[in-house]
Amino acid sequence: MSTASAPGKIILLGEHSVVYGRPAIAVPVWNVQATADVQPQRPGRGCTLSAPQLDRSGPLAAAPVDDPLALVTRLALAALGAPADPDLCISVHSAIPIAGGLGSGAAISAALVAAIFAHYGAPADPAQVSALVFESERIHHGTPSGIDNTVIAYGRPVWFVKGQPPQLFTPAAPFTLAIADSGITAPTKETVGDVRRGWQNAPARYERWFDKIAELVVAARTAVEQGEMQALGPLLNANQALLARLGVSSPPLEHLIAAARRAGAAGAKLSGGGRGGNIIALVTAQSAPAVEAALLQAGARRVIVTHVGAQAGLVV
Ligand code: PMV
Repeated sequence: MSTASAPGKIILLGEHSVVYGRPAIAVPVWNVQATADVQPQRPGRGCTLSAPQLDRSGPLAAAPVDDPLALVTRLALAALGAPADPDLCISVHSAIPIAGGLGSGAAISAALVAAIFAHYGAPADPAQVSALVFESERIHHGTPSGIDNTVIAYGRPVWFVKGQPPQLFTPAAPFTLAIADSGITAPTKETVGDVRRGWQNAPARYERWFDKIAELVVAARTAVEQGEMQALGPLLNANQALLARLGVSSPPLEHLIAAARRAGAAGAKLSGGGRGGNIIALVTAQSAPAVEAALLQAGARRVIVTHVGAQAGLVV
């Protein structure tokens, strides 16, 4: 049996403005992973895809063309020059909450591609995995920037600008984030659409906000690469203020963000599409327990405390 795992992800700074060509930083979240297994099955049975969490199981041949998992499977098989309907049983499992901005769809697809490549003894080049996963992301999100598939396929912090090769970078020192789930589904398509309408109505104002966010993202990369972590918290807060101006925050997210800051987080913001999904808070080993408790007290469904550091690459 061949197995591969891919991490969840969060966007540290730069969501939404990344759609308009500005940079964003995303980091993997290895505490939650998607895993895919590929096993040969009896000759003549064809390929079966099963994803218990997505409530599905069935022959690949019967899956519609716009089914994201089937699409990425077909693309991976084609990229390898493998038969279109091989006698394989492929199953995927994920511990990544769905529609929370943690990249569950991209992680499932990345694990699937990497496990299929491993089955055929081919190395899973992250750029190729990322490109294949991007095709499934298009079905989920319409016009994604490509940041999710990139950070998940590389499994490392990435500096991402749409249409450019990603730059991988290493934090000077590991840092810790508390990620709190609001329990509200993030309506990413809706928020991306609303920002687009706002930008169409007032392009100069939105471009100015996007430029300001880009400055914060540049400063955050410097802070992370140089280990100046005291600079990062205020940058997260400033990014949050601009996301609120873009109209993608919401009272429940603001409530969690305020609770994290009051409990000692150095900075906090929404992460991903907004109006739901997760918030992130910059914490230390000392402040993490109090921030986690405050977030749960303020209504978070669950809190993941993750260390952003050196671990790299999909686990095959
Ligand atoms: O909700 P997520 O984490 O999948 O992120 C959406 C990020 C946006 O910048 C809002 C959209 C995009 O395609 O980059």
